Amino acid sequence: MKYDVAIIGGGPAGYTAAEAAGKAGLSVVLFEKKSLGGVCLNEGCIPTKTLLYSAKTLDNARHAQKYAVNVTVEGFDLPKIVARKQKVVRKLVLGVKAKLTAYQVQIVTGEAQIVDAQHIRCDEETYECAHMLLCTGSETFVPPIPGVQDIPYWTHREALDCKELPQTLAIIGGGVIGIEFASYFTSLGVKVTVVEMLDEILGGLDKEISSLLRAEYQKRGVQFLLSTKVLSFEQAEEGVKVNYEGGEIIAEKVLLSMGRRPVTKGYGLENLGLKTDERGRICVDAHMQTSVAGVYACGDITGVSMLAHTAVREAEVAVHHIINKADEMAYNAIPGVVYTNPEVASVGFTEEALKREGINYRVSKLPMAYSGRFVAENEGVNGVCKLLISEDDTILGAHLLGNPASEIITLAGMAISMKLKAEDWKRMVFPHPTVGEIFKETL
Ligand code: NAI
Repeated sequence: MKYDVAIIGGGPAGYTAAEAAGKAGLSVVLFEKKSLGGVCLNEGCIPTKTLLYSAKTLDNARHAQKYAVNVTVEGFDLPKIVARKQKVVRKLVLGVKAKLTAYQVQIVTGEAQIVDAQHIRCDEETYECAHMLLCTGSETFVPPIPGVQDIPYWTHREALDCKELPQTLAIIGGGVIGIEFASYFTSLGVKVTVVEMLDEILGGLDKEISSLLRAEYQKRGVQFLLSTKVLSFEQAEEGVKVNYEGGEIIAEKVLLSMGRRPVTKGYGLENLGLKTDERGRICVDAHMQTSVAGVYACGDITGVSMLAHTAVREAEVAVHHIINKADEMAYNAIPGVVYTNPEVASVGFTEEALKREGINYRVSKLPMAYSGRFVAENEGVNGVCKLLISEDDTILGAHLLGNPASEIITLAGMAISMKLKAEDWKRMVFPHPTVGEIFKETL
């Protein structure tokens, strides 16, 4: 069997590439060993957001009185929350399958093995291809901390399917996964402790905003142990003992969220002899081409951004290169969102990065309460909008705390991507009243 394009991995990178290539009239085969949609659809972005929406609905019901609505909250049904999550996932996975089928993509359920740049083996069959796309994603990284193999830890996977709540939960790693689960389990009444080895949660995001979010969750009862590196785990009678320098905590359950690593083993990648950088990451150019002609890598496997929306864009760029359509990957305006309540969203440079790179900038910052719509819908809550602007008035970065940050951050992403000057952005007409107007106010 001979194809124009063979894709390994059916996550956001793989299915986007398959759809784009199929749409362009290329013959496409896509290999997926588990379920179409990858981590994002099956055990990442979509399921967590579905669970977090139930938690948010619960929070809103609890606070309904702030809006003069009398509601008696009788609790929640955790097995039903988890079942709804499964229903949402199933629906979206079917949607992906339908799209690929519509573009005549051949979907092969099985584990692909790379023979060379033009051949893939799967279930006794050999598939020949002119172009190969590596979209194998990433997996949870569990560091070899002493004792870790002797405790019944959770990763995000077990946490997503939890139908019986523990009383206490220790989350190791205060990155995006750790903090989103801290938000979810806190809303459901679990006593959460986050252990983070850096001096602030959400490393890589704007530090001021991360600390405001942390203060908000501290008020809700989350305990944060910062600058605290876990040294070992032990099973104790009362639960799992988490030992760190200078102390220990005991929790009924432990969730490990200490990062993810690209999946590069188990499918014959070594047969391609791809060039890697000093950190072992596959080198790709602006068209997502690897060092071997005809082989592309997109999504978490490159280890660059590890976000589903980056993967989608990288896949589009790779397919455009295959069909000779001018396009290049750019990473300067990729939004990042933390789906806590309130949400955090960020795009472009942080202050920390600008300082590191020696770029001069000014800060324009306003409380979210300068947006009338925000005040109307966020009783007793505040947030921040922070814009970073260069000496020549170009927008360099935008950082938000407050709902619906995830929905309005794209406006700032467009401004950065189009190298808009603050004056030009300010001239745009924003609908009133919207939370997005906060950008105009801040400018
Ligand atoms: P992460 O790399 O974002 O955070 C891991 C944290 O664990 C770091 O802050 C690190 O300092 C800490 N850590 C590592 N070892 C430790 C130790 N021994 N003791 C204490 N702390 C320790 O990784 P995370 O949160 O697992 O997320 C993985 C990837 O998934 C990220 O690239 C993230 O962007 C992506 N993701 C994105 C989401 C979103 O966009 N909303 C949601 C979930 C995941």
